[in-house]
Amino acid sequence: SYTEKTHMDPHSLTETHLSQLCETIKKELNSSIKPLRDVSQYYFDGQGKYIRPMIVLLTAEACNTHTSKNRKILPSQTTVVMVSEMIHTASLVHDDVIDGADTRRGKTSVNKMFGERMSVLAADYILACASQALAKLGNSEVVELLARVVDDLVKGEFMQLGSKENPDERFNHYLEKTYKKTASLIACCCKAVAVFGDCDPEVQEIAFQYGRNIGMAFQVVDDILDFIASEGEMGKPTATDLRLGLATAPVLFACEQYPDLNALIMRRFKGPNDVEEAREAVYKSDGIARSYTLASQYAKEAVKQINKLSSSSQRDALITITQQILQRRK
Ligand code: FPP
Ligand code: MG
Ligand code: MG
Repeated sequence: SYTEKTHMDPHSLTETHLSQLCETIKKELNSSIKPLRDVSQYYFDGQGKYIRPMIVLLTAEACNTHTSKNRKILPSQTTVVMVSEMIHTASLVHDDVIDGADTRRGKTSVNKMFGERMSVLAADYILACASQALAKLGNSEVVELLARVVDDLVKGEFMQLGSKENPDERFNHYLEKTYKKTASLIACCCKAVAVFGDCDPEVQEIAFQYGRNIGMAFQVVDDILDFIASEGEMGKPTATDLRLGLATAPVLFACEQYPDLNALIMRRFKGPNDVEEAREAVYKSDGIARSYTLASQYAKEAVKQINKLSSSSQRDALITITQQILQRRK
C-alpha cells in the first residue's frame, strides 16, 4: 500500500540505518566455519519487516530528543537495534524447527534448507554473537534486561506446548504467553536504548510501556492474520495455529459464544474435524472483531505512553506504526 513520505513516516526516517542492518549483522556472524556462517546468515537476506529494529531505533531517537535535544543515535543504542533483530531471528530459527515450518518470508525455511541439527546450532550461534556484542558494551543492567528477554522467549514458547489450564485462566495464560514470546523483546530493547540515552527512570518506563503495548498489539494482530490472511500475503503458511494445537485470541473469544469449543481446545484440535470446526466457529462468532478491539486497546495505550515524550518526528512515527500494525496484512 502507498505510504505518504512525510517527516513522520517510520520507513523513510529509518531506511538509511536499516538498509545497512543485514550487512552489519552478517559481519557479526563471522565464524571461520563456512557452513555455520551460511546457515546463521540465511534469514538475514533483507526480506524481513525489521519492525523491531525500526521501533527500537525510533524510540532511541525520540528518547534522546526528549532528554537532551540531541537526537543523534549513540553507538551503544545502535548495538541494541542490531541485537533486537538478532535475538528475534535466533528465536525464529528455533521456532521453525519446533513448528516444522516449510517456508518463511516466501522462501524455503532454514530447517528444510539445512536440516534441524544445523539450524538449532545456527540459532544458538546467532544468540551467542548477539550476547557478545551486548556484553562488550559493559552495561550490566542492559545485559540483565536482554538475558530476561531470552528467558521470556523460552518460557513463552514453553507455555505454548501445553493448554491444560482451566478455562477461567486461559485468557490470562494467553496474554502472559504473548508478553513473553513477543512483547518482552520489544519492551526491553526500548527500555535498553533509553538506559543508554541516559534518560530518567520515568522515560525508561515510558519506553518500556510503549514497547510492551505495541508488542502485544503486534502479536494479537499476528494471531488474527493466521485466520484471515493468505499464505501469499504473509510469506508463510497461515491457518497453522489450530493445526499446531494453539488457541489464540480469536478462538478464545469464539469459545465464549460457542462453549462446545472447550473440548476442542482441551484436546488441542486433534479430533478428526476439529480444525475446520474451530475455524467455522471463529468466523461465525465475533472472535475476529473482538480480537481487533483487544489489539486496538494495546495500540491506544502505546500511543498514550509515547505521547508523554516531547514532540519529535520520531515520536510521531512511533504513533504511525501503531496504526500501521492494526492495518497490516503481512
Ligand atoms: C514465532 O512464533 C516465535 C517466537 C516469536 C518466539 C520463539 C521462541 C523460541 C523458539 C524460544 C527459543 C529462543 C531463543 C532465542 C533461545 P510463531 O510460530 O507464532 O510465528 P510464525 O508464524 O512466524 O512461525
Ligand atoms: Mg512458527
Ligand atoms: Mg511457533
